[in-house]
Amino acid sequence: MLGIRKVSIIGSGHVGESAAFIMAMRGIADEVVMTDVVEDLPEGKALDMMEAAPILGYDTKIKGSSKGKIYDAIEDSDVVIMTAGFPRLPGMSRDDLLGKNIPIMRQVAENVAKYAPNSIFLVVANPLDAMIYAAKKVTGFPDNRLVGQAGALDSARFMSFLAAEKGVSVKNVWGMTLGSHGDDMVPLRDYSQIYGVPVNKLIEADRLEEIVERTRKGGGEIVKLLKKGSAYWAPAAGAAWMTESILRDEKAVIPCHTFLHGEYGINDLPVGVPVQLGKGGVEKIIEIDLSDQEKAELKKSADHVAEVCKRVDDLKLL
Ligand code: LAC
Repeated sequence: MLGIRKVSIIGSGHVGESAAFIMAMRGIADEVVMTDVVEDLPEGKALDMMEAAPILGYDTKIKGSSKGKIYDAIEDSDVVIMTAGFPRLPGMSRDDLLGKNIPIMRQVAENVAKYAPNSIFLVVANPLDAMIYAAKKVTGFPDNRLVGQAGALDSARFMSFLAAEKGVSVKNVWGMTLGSHGDDMVPLRDYSQIYGVPVNKLIEADRLEEIVERTRKGGGEIVKLLKKGSAYWAPAAGAAWMTESILRDEKAVIPCHTFLHGEYGINDLPVGVPVQLGKGGVEKIIEIDLSDQEKAELKKSADHVAEVCKRVDDLKLL
């Protein structure tokens, strides 16, 4: 029998359920297990999605498992996606969630290490910079099997704004953001392109800076509109994109949080950079030559990551 491609999702809120749905629609996994501490919630959402399957035409088996049965259900997962935690509300920064969400990560990571010890652990929940740092400390997973979703989302935001700016298909656009998942992320101007042409040749400098700024504050823009929570379709799409490359061993290059050990002059910190994702997880870190401005911005962004990781240590949250 062929191996079953199994993905488990911790947390069946908006990000978790949207990721399950996208993965089913795209046929990325054979089995998706949705879990949640809220009794019966993932069972209900999974059943609902299975009932939509005959119309939408997917054969992915979506299952739900809640309270008390969460971790037995994630055994043998190829990928575990961590979405559990409190979302941002208007006026909050992602880092304001640290005190509440790191303890959740601690409990989840202990169980992922125990029940899915060979999985690739894909972290989505915020504050992402601190959450992936905590995930490593608790699981002890090797760096290739720990990856954070932020760059996929931030880059997708950047690409969507660039496509809208020039009125072209999103398929004509490639853009990347590096660094932390905070307002000091680094959207690249030299390496982002529209139909192969660097964006800084097609868009006036001032206007490009406005688009860069909107990308940096993209999460906050959605929080402000939703009022009761944060974005979920694009974050879920980012996680599904990464999972697809892992399960299909596509080796797609996607900006993701990974632990750096000297690359980009950064040491032992989880920072967003382009990586190649395949069945081994993070198979390769791609180092590209940045402009002096981008180098300085990335350094500032990495300093921010270092600060939040230190806060996790100082607060003794693990
Ligand atoms: C965002 C949150 C989810 O950027 O981090 O939308």
